[in-house]
Amino acid sequence: MTSGSFERMWAELLPVGRSASSGGYRRFAWNSADAECRAWFEEQARSRGLTYELDRNGNQWAWLGDPSGEGAVVTGSHLDSVPDGGAFDGPLGVVSSFAALDELRLRGAEFSRPLAIVNFGDEEGARFGVACVGSRLSAGVLSREQAFELRDADGVRLPDAMERAGHDPGAIGADGDRLARIGAFVELHVEQGRYLTQGQPVGVASAIWPHGRWRFDFHGEANHAGTTRIEDRRDPMLTYANTVLAARKKAKLAGALATFGKVAVEPNGTNAIASLVRGWLDSRAADERTLDALVEEIRQAAYERGARDGVRVELTRESFTPVVDFDSPLRDRLAKLLGDVPVLPTGAGHDAGILASVIPTAMLFVRNPSGVSHSPAEHAEEPDCLAGVAALADVLEDLACQ
Ligand code: GLV
Ligand code: MN
Ligand code: MN
Ligand code: MN
Repeated sequence: MTSGSFERMWAELLPVGRSASSGGYRRFAWNSADAECRAWFEEQARSRGLTYELDRNGNQWAWLGDPSGEGAVVTGSHLDSVPDGGAFDGPLGVVSSFAALDELRLRGAEFSRPLAIVNFGDEEGARFGVACVGSRLSAGVLSREQAFELRDADGVRLPDAMERAGHDPGAIGADGDRLARIGAFVELHVEQGRYLTQGQPVGVASAIWPHGRWRFDFHGEANHAGTTRIEDRRDPMLTYANTVLAARKKAKLAGALATFGKVAVEPNGTNAIASLVRGWLDSRAADERTLDALVEEIRQAAYERGARDGVRVELTRESFTPVVDFDSPLRDRLAKLLGDVPVLPTGAGHDAGILASVIPTAMLFVRNPSGVSHSPAEHAEEPDCLAGVAALADVLEDLACQ
């Protein structure tokens, strides 16, 4: 078994980008922690004699066999994190991919197709606001022009951040030829809900809920907190707060999800009424109709409340991912191969969800005992991680060695 290789890699990555105060990770696209993770990936590739490639969008590839060969089997995930993210979301898939390859080499597997491990850049969208930037660009669902418009909270443009990190942004854009050579993509990921808390340690994904991000701008009027009468205020914080409450209530009624997890306030002074509150809505539902209706209801609630508060509300959709139904022959093949493991949907977005529109794609989920994710408390037990490695090795052997 490959536990030695998994444990060693896990221990190497564990301190990278970890905040001493929160214990969470701050590996954001093109920051220094991300660069360390990228250097680690390259080293894993080279030390195994794999062919290392950095593609035009900053995704990293480690190839066993010919990178220009047809019908490649690709596995991998991402190494970046949400603000104060957990250790497993992303890295578990990358580390398990290298460990599964080590396992297959121990088994003496003979590959009939090229095999690659990939680290997709900027999966979480923590810095530039759009998730899965690397895979979206490659699949052509985010255009080069749109990517060039993205800015972080300090106003740094995505191409400038790339360039500062030593990656030439000149070639970014769709990478259809590369994707057309891939026969199957399988992403292993820690489970992020409560579907696998009991029972088997590994499951197969059926679908990803449609989801998106919307920015609400609440424009009010800055004024003195001590001298402005309540009836004279145009306070965008009030409209924002009521919108958060409305979102929660309406999402519950719709059996869907709505989250305001990020907010920016101007001028952000304790003794000043805000002039602007900017709140980002993340909303998800089992189907697009429910999601569209929910976001429309939240929009209406915000506009109506804004009219009462003297606050102008603007709504911008920043990203959207349609429902993903993973390739059913591949999904059924994996579930059967692994011994009729659970097949479960997820509300979390993944690069696999982006690639599913262009490549037969599947996902494996590894049990997460509490279901907590996007938090330092995210966890998976080591025996379950090793079960994930063994399952991934079986899957890769089945797909790439016949
Ligand atoms: C990414 O992990 C997302 O689902 O937002
Ligand atoms: Mn995530
Ligand atoms: Mn992830
Ligand atoms: Mn994700």
